[in-house]
Amino acid sequence: MSSRDDLPHCVVFDSGMGGLTIVQELAAVGFAGRVSYAADTGFFPYGEKSDEDLIRRVPALCRALVEAADPDILVIACNTASTLALEVTRAVVDIPVVGTVPAIKPAAKATQTGVIGVLATPGTLRRAYTQALVDAFARHCRVLSHGSLKLVELAERFQVGEAVEREEICGELEALLSQSGGDEMDQIVLACTHFPLLRQELVACALEGVNFIDSGQAIARRVMSLLGQDLRASSEASLSPDRLLTTGASPSLERMIKAGAMSGFTEHHQIDFDDPASRA
Ligand code: DGL
Repeated sequence: MSSRDDLPHCVVFDSGMGGLTIVQELAAVGFAGRVSYAADTGFFPYGEKSDEDLIRRVPALCRALVEAADPDILVIACNTASTLALEVTRAVVDIPVVGTVPAIKPAAKATQTGVIGVLATPGTLRRAYTQALVDAFARHCRVLSHGSLKLVELAERFQVGEAVEREEICGELEALLSQSGGDEMDQIVLACTHFPLLRQELVACALEGVNFIDSGQAIARRVMSLLGQDLRASSEASLSPDRLLTTGASPSLERMIKAGAMSGFTEHHQIDFDDPASRA
């Protein structure tokens, strides 16, 4: 029988609790091994930060996380970080790094009306990487988008059971659907890992026939393939939550500790991270 330490160890990293949606997908595909969860609570939310700050911080932090946790694989479970810093991060760590980028390709393939929507952080929407995905896969589509930091915050509050008015969530979706051509939209890309935490609420706000699509399952399958694990039914899943790693005190820290514990991450460590951006 293999011991706990023989099993692969995956670190899932996000600015906050959005990456928990990727942990759920890993469990659903039957990931067998340990998962540590890392949240950059000291710099949350990423969606409002400058590209310069993120490009300095994310690779350095990922390197510190790999040194602290010694995983076999790292998942950057954040569109805002991956669309900017994935390649730079790969260059500074010596394990496989899986990024999370907007599911524009499957949405463009699935649309019947030719109108797709992208809900993301403002940072993800202004990225050249995101525009390149549109150019490569969705040239035949009308692509509408809405950048929302408010949905990120609502998702964090909702996840830990704080009061969130459904109208607030619907208002953010309305900002997408009310754009010219929005009434024909049949695919909406949830291009921020926080947003699937609100999936049921978003579905309830939308008209019937609108499909919400994200990259969570594709990320989980990629991890399985890199680790050489077979996809299995969720009932057989044996994902074992390991540590919760956080970077700093902020209003999001308390919520993160609560949400982490709700997902089985009960052992909490604060990591000592000296941000190169703050020294620049
Ligand atoms: N969960 C992150 C993403 O996928 C962003 C949230 C934030 O703004 O920090 O983009």
